[in-house]
Amino acid sequence: MGMMHIPGHEGQKPREVSLEEIRSVMGDCRLCQLCQTRTNIVFGVGNPHARVLFVGEAPGKNEDLQGEPFVGRAGENLNRILSLAGLRREDIYIANVLKCRPPGNRNPAADEVLACSPYLREQIRSIWPDIIVTLGNPASHFVLKTETGITKLRGRFHQMGHFTVMPTFHPAAALRNPAWQQLLEADFKMLGDYLAAHPAGSGLEAATMEAAESERSDALPSLEG
Ligand code: URA
Repeated sequence: MGMMHIPGHEGQKPREVSLEEIRSVMGDCRLCQLCQTRTNIVFGVGNPHARVLFVGEAPGKNEDLQGEPFVGRAGENLNRILSLAGLRREDIYIANVLKCRPPGNRNPAADEVLACSPYLREQIRSIWPDIIVTLGNPASHFVLKTETGITKLRGRFHQMGHFTVMPTFHPAAALRNPAWQQLLEADFKMLGDYLAAHPAGSGLEAATMEAAESERSDALPSLEG
């Protein structure tokens, strides 16, 4: 699959296209069946220059009604544990693999992920974060291009080209399983330690950014379908 066509851009580089331009291409998206049952498209929210991008699965009921990701119970859990990583909600950007709610919160179908994924890819390219935190299996599988389960993936960082990826449990799943909640919190502390050890603008980050900017982002496998 090639890059998404965004009017006025060709072979877009990291941070070249704004989130507003991507949202505008999305319009009243009808690329999959979820358009028939959604109330609102849930595009994503937060700091367009975030160092840390969080990726969830799909909007739930509250998100569908309000048009914002992670505003329900999972979002409350996320807000509570963000401070363990030294982060505030306004520091980060949050998006989902699917932009529309699957009826009854069922798992995303493969064809829905395929249809929706160009939007997430362009969001990642636009924000160009240092770190992507993937919440749960669908987000982790999409970003890390693996089928390995989250219990095996979590607890460490993975490198995908420019991006440092931290897969962890989904905050909604952790609410139902206290042992997972503990591990989720341990992962957020690990993220806080990583951020403290790699401050923005540190030598390592500057070098990565330089390399990234000189590189056409369509050469990165993790951003292609
Ligand atoms: N779960 C998700 O994965 N995303 C949301 O936005 C809400 C709940």
